[in-house]
Amino acid sequence: MTNIIYSLLLLISIFVMFDANGANQQYNNMMDNNMDCATTAMPQGIDPQLLPNKNSQSAQTFIKYCSQCHRVPGPGLHTSAQWPSVIERMNKRMKMMSQDMMMMNIKAPTEKELALITEYVTQNAQQAMTIDEIAKINSTNGEKFKQVCAQCHALPNPAKYPKSAWPSIIKRMRANMLNMGKTPPDENTTNAILNFLVTQAKY
Ligand code: HEC
Ligand code: HEC
Repeated sequence: MTNIIYSLLLLISIFVMFDANGANQQYNNMMDNNMDCATTAMPQGIDPQLLPNKNSQSAQTFIKYCSQCHRVPGPGLHTSAQWPSVIERMNKRMKMMSQDMMMMNIKAPTEKELALITEYVTQNAQQAMTIDEIAKINSTNGEKFKQVCAQCHALPNPAKYPKSAWPSIIKRMRANMLNMGKTPPDENTTNAILNFLVTQAKY
């Protein structure tokens, strides 16, 4: 009799161990995902009020899905050539996490919504300079621009932005630099860059 009870207890404890392993595995998965968040760079994010056509359906879809884990990224962070692979990586993550009940209620977009998001970010993407255009920069101010402004994204093409846009973009980039642990340039360098951008701006 004691033998039977003993065997039963042993069996139960094995089951408990298995269960604990399962829970551990889930816990580890969760920690991995959290580590993922902690160790790789989340985008700096942008004030949603500054998003182009912020009330459009595509902007709203972008905000809805792409601010679930980090602040909504500025579409100007990547070029239209770069965005699709980033979106694909994020979509995989959303799909995976939307199936896991432990993962803070993450929702994944439908195919249609994903297409809207991709269209939105590629249409409002960084207007980068080509390698040829960069090679033609030969002024001191231009050199400063190259040094400072390609640290986090492709070098933007000043000719694709209106003159009037630059002062506020420069101001925002200073904040981005401070938030991302990079030293912003001193006042002289900042003015030199602004000067370059404004003289290159086409309209
Ligand atoms: C389920 C959580 C989650 C959601 C939802 C999510 N992201 Fe991310 N995102 C992350 C994590 C974690 C990282 C850092 C690791 C990495 O880059 O893969 C990240 C990093 C980024 C980066 C910076 C890295 C890079 O390659 O530039 C961008 C930009 C970005 N996400 C855009 C998006 C967009 C666009 C969406 C919506 C389509 C989105 N994210 C939705 C978790 C998420
Ligand atoms: C510390 C990283 C960092 C540096 C350095 C940086 N940027 Fe940015 N930049 C960002 C981020 C993040 C975004 C996307 C979010 C945003 O628009 O604020 C961005 C977006 C942009 C955009 C797209 C804005 C739009 O509205 O389409 C332009 C243009 C730009 N940066 C210009 C510059 C210039 C010029 C410099 C040099 C003075 C610079 N950046 C330096 C981080 C940086």
